[in-house]
Amino acid sequence: MITAEHLTKRYGEKTAVDDLSFSVRPGVVTGFLGPNGAGKSTTMRMLVSLDHPTGGRITIDGKRYRDLADPLRHVGVMLDAREVHPGRSAYHHLLAVARTHGFSARRGEHVLETVGLGSVSHKRAGSFSLGMSQRLGIATALLGDPQVLVLDEPVNGLDPDGVL
Ligand SMILES: Nc1ncnc2c1ncn2[C@@H]1O[C@H](COP(=O)(O)OP(=O)(O)O)[C@@H](O)[C@H]1O
Ligand SMILES: [Mg+2]
Repeated sequence: MITAEHLTKRYGEKTAVDDLSFSVRPGVVTGFLGPNGAGKSTTMRMLVSLDHPTGGRITIDGKRYRDLADPLRHVGVMLDAREVHPGRSAYHHLLAVARTHGFSARRGEHVLETVGLGSVSHKRAGSFSLGMSQRLGIATALLGDPQVLVLDEPVNGLDPDGVL
């Protein structure tokens, strides 16, 4: 369960998230909708402790993300698919994440196959199209086989097969 309670974020004069409360039940695909600038990405950044709330809190199964002992096995996240070292291949990107989190190299290969990047796994991530980058981001989110997936605009640039 993801729970936000009176979550608020201010950047100077600007209130990006204003007293937001909600809960997301397990086992349910939940969309988070709103116009550009509504505060969706800011909320997701706070969910994974990349930003600190000005007020309130947001937790996963009662814990802040930063307090999870093994976060990638708990929560898979893709906030910005372009946040990958451009000189590293898809395979080596996943290998780096796998090695630093106690997953096997085989697991990285498995998720690359799952997202349809098996044939380009040794190409540099910097040469990927937006849709291929999205696929790599989703593969990274799936790496720890987590119960919770948090994806910010996951279908950006994906072809119909990628969306499926
Ligand atoms: N680091 C930041 N500094 C200042 N303002 C920010 C920052 N991040 C987001 N904002 C502002 O907060 C608001 C919400 O942004 P964001 O969460 O990215 O919206 P969404 O994802 O719903 O399009 C916007 O007005 C944006 O300009
Ligand atoms: Mg956004």
